[in-house]
Amino acid sequence: MSAVVTLNFAEWRPTLTDEARDIAARALEEGGVIRLPHVGFALTESERRFLSPAWSDGRAKSINLDGTRLRGVAGTAADRAELAAMTARFAAGASELVVALFPRYAPYVRRARASYRPQPAVGRDVSWRKDDSRLHVDAFPSRPNRGERILRVFTNVNPSADRVWRVGEPFEKMAQTFLPRIANPVPGVSAVLAAIGVTKGRRSAYDHLMLNLHDRAKADLDYQRECAQETVRFAPGTTWVCFSDQVMHAAVSGQYMLEQTTHLPVSALYDPARSPLAILERLTGRTLVPAP
Ligand SMILES: [Fe+2]
Repeated sequence: MSAVVTLNFAEWRPTLTDEARDIAARALEEGGVIRLPHVGFALTESERRFLSPAWSDGRAKSINLDGTRLRGVAGTAADRAELAAMTARFAAGASELVVALFPRYAPYVRRARASYRPQPAVGRDVSWRKDDSRLHVDAFPSRPNRGERILRVFTNVNPSADRVWRVGEPFEKMAQTFLPRIANPVPGVSAVLAAIGVTKGRRSAYDHLMLNLHDRAKADLDYQRECAQETVRFAPGTTWVCFSDQVMHAAVSGQYMLEQTTHLPVSALYDPARSPLAILERLTGRTLVPAP
């Protein structure tokens, strides 16, 4: 069965029946990708000049909106202000979309972050660990999240080229493959990493497993080639939504994408038992995040 569910409404703030919202929430939390081929983000005449990789300062893969300011961007103050306004307008639309589709998540959308990615999705010279053309779940070495979910809204703003992903097998199946290969963390290391500022807070056992699932899957080229997967195309003017800590995904091609990230506690989910935290606790028989 395909992990991609296509919905055909055309608004950032659709009016949906309870039944339609339930279907979307279940598909999302089961690890699906919600594809919205008629929800696009229109650039103004003036904003079309931002369709160039030259706006990136070359250090990060994305230009990030931090409050009302951008990080990682080149250009004059006026250019930066206009690009910030464009990204903020996208973020407002993406927030409305998440609230309309998944009202339970609404309290957490206020803290959402957004970015603009003007660089090609693949082709940058990066190490295997940073190579997002390999199937992976998102897990970030410097940002332990202790089970918090990573909900992402993406829009392809390229006027002519698709953004193409590979989408892999369900999270639980992937975890069953790689968990036996993951060693326990070295005692004391998470405290040291937090103390010297390498990580923002201590890595939990959950974070240790998620980082290792990310790394083990990317490092295994046989798995990359042979695991169950499908190619998914996101045409120009398409928006898609998924939990990127759960969906095995890989960039194949594309350029010019806007993205919004919302972090959600597991308790905000419609069905917390489907979260990676719950799945990993069930598979390992352990509590993976200490009580606060
Ligand atoms: Fe990713």
